[in-house]
Amino acid sequence: MSVGIDEISFYTPNYYLDLRTLAEVQQTESEKYYQGIGQEKMSMPAPDEDIVTMAANAAQPLVERVGSGAISTLLFATETGIDQSKAAGIYVHRLLGLNANCRVVELKQACYSATAAIQMACALVTRQPDKQVMVIASDVARYDLDTAGEATQGAGAVAMLISANPRLIEIAPEVGNHTEDVMDFWRPNYRNTALVDGKYSTKVYLKSLKKAWENFVEASSLAFSDFSHFCYHLPFSRMAEKAHKHLAKLNKCGLNPDQLEQQIEDTLYYNRLIGNSYTASMYIGLSSLLENCKQNLAGKRIGFFSYGSGCVAEFFAGTVVVGYEHCLHTLVHKNMLETRQSVSYDEYLSLYRYPDPRDGEHHDIPQGTTGRFRLAAISGHKREYVIC
Ligand code: HMG
Repeated sequence: MSVGIDEISFYTPNYYLDLRTLAEVQQTESEKYYQGIGQEKMSMPAPDEDIVTMAANAAQPLVERVGSGAISTLLFATETGIDQSKAAGIYVHRLLGLNANCRVVELKQACYSATAAIQMACALVTRQPDKQVMVIASDVARYDLDTAGEATQGAGAVAMLISANPRLIEIAPEVGNHTEDVMDFWRPNYRNTALVDGKYSTKVYLKSLKKAWENFVEASSLAFSDFSHFCYHLPFSRMAEKAHKHLAKLNKCGLNPDQLEQQIEDTLYYNRLIGNSYTASMYIGLSSLLENCKQNLAGKRIGFFSYGSGCVAEFFAGTVVVGYEHCLHTLVHKNMLETRQSVSYDEYLSLYRYPDPRDGEHHDIPQGTTGRFRLAAISGHKREYVIC
């Protein structure tokens, strides 16, 4: 029996800031963003959107297909938590009408935790192959204004169904891990924005790739040449290009730069337009590959490198299943990205600075999202979500 990703769907807010606009205000060349970091736009949530509404929007098509009773567990990965105690997934559980017997838990380790959720989901399904587990990763990437990290913000959620005999990706059990206590990126509880040692973080990312890969080849019989494509964690798309060159060099693979580029380029399209979505970004990259690759990927092996600052990294392998192309949400995703609304720099600032009420009074939140679910109010310190 194989276990893996049966279906994948993502959501990103309908507002975005073009990085050309940011470059103009900062009096920087837009090529620094478009080419230097490989990013074009970054999604900005409306005031009535957060990790819960984005997650519910991403997951709804999956629940509609399998039925709300089919899901035994909901694993919610995020580093944009809205509560120190209550799991954000419980709101999603209600919004999607999931069964009361479905367990829900939230997982955290920076951008890595969605991969931990996937591995745990695979283990649960291996124990009970008739069950399906929903993994959702949802995040808003926020840095301080006028910092180097600002251009690498973004927002998005991805939902995946993990099942036996999956229709998209069979995940192999062998993994390679690397964990190390480092301060490359973190967000203390009292801050809304992340702190980051940017250049150092890119070095730790590359070091962790090497270490996780070395651990992977000890556990698996697979070599670099067994993979046709690679999905990397995508804080910005140039990071994946650097990572892939690094891995290729470590393996003395003999591929030329164009061949190396072909192994990752289809994974990058959506993230260039969305920005960093932390836990969701590698899996939005997987969607981008499956939905944009001209070649039929059936039977091809994909290498996944998941990285979460702090840090935990994991390399694992998945094989694309025959017929996968019939199980994608390509048109919905492309339409969502094409119909978004560009915001001016001032509009971006007001979205960025939208007040975060903390006084316990009743606060109605203005409608801004075009999604199905919204945060309608915060009242008595309680978040009130509604279905539009
Ligand atoms: P910076 O220091 O402003 O940028 O910020 P830079 O000066 O290094 O320039 C970036 C690239 O653009 C360079 O290319 C320049 O040469 C090039 P490189 O040398 O790297 O190949 N450039 C140009 N190219 C064309 N035309 C031009 C031009 N000007 C410059 N005119 C930095 C870059 C990544 C540090 C910053 O954006 C940052 O701090 N970002 C946030 C941290 C981050 O994303 N780190 C990634 C690794 S850690 C990670 O992935 C985890 C994370 O997702 C969090 C989590 O796990 O939860 C972040």
